[in-house]
Amino acid sequence: MFQPAKRLASLPTPATIAMAARARELKAQGKPIISLALGQPDFPSPEAALAGAVAEVEAGRTGYPPIPGQKLLLEAVAQKFKRDNGLDVPVSQIMVCNGGKQAIFNAFMASLNEGDEVVVPAPYWVSYPLIAQMFGGVPVEVPCREEDGFRPQAEAIAKAITQNTRWLVLNFPNNPTGAILERAELEAIADVLRQAPHVMVMSDEIYEHLTFDGRHHLSLLNVAPDLADRVLVINGVSKAYAMTGWRVGFACGPEALIKAMVKVQGNSTSGICTLAQGGAAAALQEDMSGVIAMRGTYERRRDMVVKALRDIKGLSCAMPEGAFYAYPGLKALIGKRSSAGRLLSDDVAFAEALLEEAHIATVPGSAFGYGPHLRLSFAASDEELIEACRRLKVFVEQIQA
Ligand SMILES: Cc1ncc(COP(=O)(O)O)c(C=O)c1O
Repeated sequence: MFQPAKRLASLPTPATIAMAARARELKAQGKPIISLALGQPDFPSPEAALAGAVAEVEAGRTGYPPIPGQKLLLEAVAQKFKRDNGLDVPVSQIMVCNGGKQAIFNAFMASLNEGDEVVVPAPYWVSYPLIAQMFGGVPVEVPCREEDGFRPQAEAIAKAITQNTRWLVLNFPNNPTGAILERAELEAIADVLRQAPHVMVMSDEIYEHLTFDGRHHLSLLNVAPDLADRVLVINGVSKAYAMTGWRVGFACGPEALIKAMVKVQGNSTSGICTLAQGGAAAALQEDMSGVIAMRGTYERRRDMVVKALRDIKGLSCAMPEGAFYAYPGLKALIGKRSSAGRLLSDDVAFAEALLEEAHIATVPGSAFGYGPHLRLSFAASDEELIEACRRLKVFVEQIQA
């Protein structure tokens, strides 16, 4: 009988995927499921991206692409770093991957040895610890506090760093909380890193354009250019450009690391689909009006959802500053029973009961290393969001003491 490799045996299925699979099952049974579980923009991809992909076909560029990426896209990414982040990056420090996820995979595979520690502020996007573990890495969580706006404190990061630390992962705007780091916080973290020259930083900035209330994203490299030789920036077109299915992400970092990551990719997927690269280049080269319009819609939906959540007695909800998730706290409801009698022993039980009884798919906060919370994506239509909040209110009101 098939036995999975040891590196997979202890790896849990990400809760995001498990919840989406159960929601699909219930939907197939005819249940009126509203899924707020996935980080999937509900907008079509930009027209320019479609035209960019067609242009690749018409030009006959359908052969194997170079492993690090096609010139057109590498140059568009370099221009993006200049335009959006004020950074001058040579193309030799950039590579294109199958989504930001593959960039993370490449980086950890290229760098981690058994027992290397990866410091991850919690809540975190599920894939960092899971991918690190696949390569023998040991995730070290740094819990953030809700009262600090879910921002990691520099002293807490300093305490978590040991001689075995290989990486610090920063993801701001954050999935799942929407937290953003201000200049002073980045400066404090940069100071910690200056005391720990053996630590690399993975700065996942994939939500950089989705910032609200007039805030702007700052990259660690903007406040600490002296750390450039150990910062790997992860980014991509999935979120801001509504291009999740195109599978285009990119990484920018020290040349030696990028070379090692290219070696990993060369021995796995090779270069990324030429059509997708053409589409991504066109999306990046377009003016930002489409992105700004989507951001405005997310901000309006955020306001609507957070207001509705705060109106539900028993839930707490911090205001997300970016990305497209609300992250309400459930502390007051844990240990009680749903109207159908399910014991809401933790946020996983809560999310399951909510799915089975109110037909809303969410992800429990403990999947992100921080419960009891729920992550609700507001990358969904107004109608779905209004109806989901209505059902959630009824579900909570009917919880028995
Ligand atoms: C924080 C974060 N980073 C990276 C990714 C990867 O996105 P993709 O592989 O679609 O580029 C995601 C997707 O959910 C994410 O939330």
